[in-house]
Parts: sequence; structure tokens; C-alpha cells
Amino acid sequence: MAEPRAFVSGWPISHSRSPIIHRHWLKRMQLAGSYEPIAVPPEQAKDFFTGLAASGYAGGNVTLPNKEAAYAACARRDAAADAIGAVNTLWFEKGILTGGNTDSHGFAANLDERAPGWADADRAIVLGAGGAARAVVHALVSRRIPEVLILNRTFARAEDIAGHFGPSAHARPWQDAETLFSSADLVVNTTSLGMHGNGGEGRLPSLDAIKASAIVTDIVYVPLMTPFLLAAQARGLKTADGLGMLLHQAAPGFEHWFGVRPAVTDELRELVIADMEAGH
Ligand code: ATR
Repeated sequence: MAEPRAFVSGWPISHSRSPIIHRHWLKRMQLAGSYEPIAVPPEQAKDFFTGLAASGYAGGNVTLPNKEAAYAACARRDAAADAIGAVNTLWFEKGILTGGNTDSHGFAANLDERAPGWADADRAIVLGAGGAARAVVHALVSRRIPEVLILNRTFARAEDIAGHFGPSAHARPWQDAETLFSSADLVVNTTSLGMHGNGGEGRLPSLDAIKASAIVTDIVYVPLMTPFLLAAQARGLKTADGLGMLLHQAAPGFEHWFGVRPAVTDELRELVIADMEAGH
């Protein structure tokens, strides 16, 4: 049988770290298989996904801006993809194109590793209301955090997510963040504020009022230590950076295509950090 082939598709795609991650696992476990980046402009996404069955790929990852197109192209989806409305992982089940969303899993698994007990939070605050926030809110609601507050510069987007995820999710005004931090057990930044190259306008709310026991995490991982995480660390808070979410979200896809569940190790983490530091 031909060796399994997988891909990551997006537009642009050259910045994706997924090939480093999956190729590392293939090599470490001495498995036959390949993983390649494919640039797919949004206007070609539909054709790309519907043509996959004929292409010989076992499946692949989908990144921006094609996650919604992948969702639409799948004949079957897992519960997380349905809840989030986006697909980041594709595979075939009995020949049927199936889509999953492993971002929620990646988020939760990273915190399980870096901040055990995080899901005992009574109140979590999510900053931002884009696609990434949906995956985070799905994870928080699935882990039964009783109160998940979503704060976004554009309030209507926060309301939209809160309405979608049900009674434990609520939208709150962005301006209330600093006050609300005093009652939060977990604060998650999903905005692009603090991301390398984000132009520098705007800033995240101050953590001055936050509880000493709170956990702070950022899904941005370039830079690894965002200004928000540095501010949290300066206050002595427990933090988890966004790289772990990226590494953990990759594991279920690898298992689908290559048949083995890979481990997220320090070696892998260091490999990706070295690539980031080399400026790729
Ligand atoms: P993604 O889907 O990757 O999460 P996105 O949809 O572009 O990306 O969302 C980016 C998030 O960062 C949004 O919540 C955005 O707020 P708006 O919905 O109001 O646009 C937030 N964001 C970006 N720049 C910001 C700034 N200067 N101040 C506050 N929030 C900002």
C-alpha cells in the first residue's frame, strides 16, 4: 500500500509550523508517510476539498482562511466542528470526507498539562470573539466552567458567541474587563493584541485587579511570551503560553492519518521554538 500522505492547506501557508510538528513525529516514530504544505487561495478552497477523495491524501489540516469552507465541504463532522462551525482537521471514514475541530482539544490539553485544575474555575473570561474564541469557549463550556464571560471590542460578536454556546456563556462590555478580572479564575486572550507584527495600536486591559490565584493564558504564540503573559508573570500568576495549544491540536489529526497517537514532548516544543527564533 502507498504510504499515507497528509497536508496543511491555507492562504498564505509558508508560515505554518504544522509541517515541522508532523514531520518530527513521523521521523521520531520511524513511520512511513509525508506531510506537506499546500497554498490554497480561498476562491479555490471548495474545489480543493471536494477533490480530495481523488487525490490520494489520507487527510490534512486546514488553516486560515479556509476553515469554514472545509466545514461546508465535509459530508460528516465531529461534535466539536459542529459546535464551532469550522474544521481544522480532515480525514476519511470509509471513504467519506470527515471534518473535525481539534483547537478546543488543543486548548484544553495544553492547560491540563501546564495548569492542572484550571477547569475548576468558577468564572472564566475570554478576551476576543473571532474564530479562535469560538474554539476556546467551546472548550470552557464542555469542561463545565459555570460562568464564561466573553469580552470583545465589537460587542455584537461577543453576544453572537454567547448566544451560540448557551446559558453559561455571557457577553460583557470590553470596558468592564479590568473590573471583571477581580472575580476571574481564568483569563484567556484570543485577540491578536500582543501578536508580533500587529501594528501596536490598542492594548489589552490591565491585570492590576486580578486574583493571585488566577491562571492567565494567551493563544498567541509569536512571541512566545506575549506582553499579556509577561504582565501576568510579573504579578506571580500561573501562565500557559499558546504554543502548547498548537502542538496539542496537531495530535488527533496525526493519529487519523498515520495510525499512532503522538506525544507532545519538550523536544518537539524546543524544535518549534528554534524555528521561530530562526525567524521563519
Ligand atoms: P481569529 O478568528 O483568528 O480569532 P479575528 O476574527 O480577526 O481572528 O479576531 C481577532 C480578535 O482580536 C477580535 O476579537 C478582534 O476584535 P473585533 O471583533 O472588535 O475586531 C480583536 N482585536 C483585534 N485588534 C484589536 C484591538 N486593537 N483592540 C481590541 N481588540 C482587538
